[in-house]
Amino acid sequence: MSKQRDQWGSSLGFVLAAAGSAVGLGNLWKFPYIAWDNNGGAFVLVYLVCIALIGLPIMMAEILIGRRTQSSPVPAFGALHEQTGTSKRWSVVGWIGVLAGVSILCFYAVIAGWSLSSFAQCLNWSINGYTPPEDGAFGAFIGNTGLQFMLALMFSGVTAFIVMRGISRGIEKATKILMPVLLLILVVLAINALTMKGIGQTLSFLFVPRLNELTTHGVLEALGHAFFTLSLGMGAMITYGSYMKKAESITKASVAIVVLDTAIALIACIIMYTILFSFPESQDQISASTAGMLFTTMPHMFYSKMAGGAILGPIFYILVAFAALSSTISLLEVSVALLVDRFSMTRVKATLAAAGSIFALTICVIFSLNSGFAVSRFKLFGTADSGLGYRLNEIFFKNKQGFMDFFDHLASNWLLPVGGLLITVYVGWFLNKKVSLDELGLQDENGNVHPFFKVFHFVLRYIAPLAILYIIYSVIFGAEDFT
Ligand code: PHE
Repeated sequence: MSKQRDQWGSSLGFVLAAAGSAVGLGNLWKFPYIAWDNNGGAFVLVYLVCIALIGLPIMMAEILIGRRTQSSPVPAFGALHEQTGTSKRWSVVGWIGVLAGVSILCFYAVIAGWSLSSFAQCLNWSINGYTPPEDGAFGAFIGNTGLQFMLALMFSGVTAFIVMRGISRGIEKATKILMPVLLLILVVLAINALTMKGIGQTLSFLFVPRLNELTTHGVLEALGHAFFTLSLGMGAMITYGSYMKKAESITKASVAIVVLDTAIALIACIIMYTILFSFPESQDQISASTAGMLFTTMPHMFYSKMAGGAILGPIFYILVAFAALSSTISLLEVSVALLVDRFSMTRVKATLAAAGSIFALTICVIFSLNSGFAVSRFKLFGTADSGLGYRLNEIFFKNKQGFMDFFDHLASNWLLPVGGLLITVYVGWFLNKKVSLDELGLQDENGNVHPFFKVFHFVLRYIAPLAILYIIYSVIFGAEDFT
């Protein structure tokens, strides 16, 4: 760490990279689906409250830890031990983060690969004409192990290439191109949505809260998703914050990231729902699986129903691929930064080691998508139908099988909430308040603390930990599931 540490070239560079991490499949694939499932309105309102009240303060807490220590999550807590006397054991937060990053990346890269194939399919339809899909085409596609391997490999390869080039020359440069292009495509698609007849219904579905439709499950899902979509609870923001210059405002940057992420999730819903509302018969096609809406229903809607779909279709999937790429970059960076900071590896070696090991897990995920392979029935505590193993699978993994669901459940339901909880407790109760105040710059020369800081600290101490404990409680005792 004594060598000069790479830094973001500009404050905009940091905001775009961090927003790039936040904006991903969570916004374009998952949020539209879960908001649809939960009947929009009231669910969206709860989601917005979770983002503003809990997501934003945790985002600020993570970035401030990173910026203060100028190091990645594991050594960050060692540095804070030296600076402020808090226990070194807090570095477990960093390890949880690395584990979460690895767990998410190994399945995320597979789904990201699907965007490449949807893009190719759309392009093919644009050139050769649309042919309606056969029944079960998506299942066959997922089970095509060789193809899945190639798609995930391409995606992981590009991710590794960018991360290998470092912060300012790799990640910042890439996200400075990816994010504006993404925003531009989104605006074009949104303008198109405004001209469609389903727009009125879409807006009232999304923004008129019908409180009687709210369920406990919906509230928990909104809360859980707030973590995933903002990339919180796993040290990604600690890591990105560690490359931030002292002069920049963490508060402003955090607000910008959160606003961008939320706006993009809502715009994605507007784009997809206007199609679904304009052509009501398409709603029957939304399959029961989460993957359904983005990768099976949407491509066909573009071609069979929409004017201009032949151009907008391929463009839409470039958007999905770009959004996913800026997220996989941040997922890989967490492990790479650990190897560089803690084990003094060069960035190139660290990237090859991290990306290579994670890709080995990705291969397991790919095999487990094909029911012909025994690994598709993988369960951590064995496949017995009764006994201790069965009970443990039930408690910890809701008896899900296969590596994709295993890693997704492990990260989204366990690692992110637990990591997030430890971060709130640490910054709320253990870290000297002066450190946070100083990093956030929320105190004037006369020592007056800005009211925003008081709210921030109060939320981190009481509200956020209680909300997260509620998630963890329901994961264990309720039949709840956030994935
Ligand atoms: N926030 C990303 C998304 O919405 C996923 C992600 C989670 C990325 C955690 C990095 C870390 O898709």
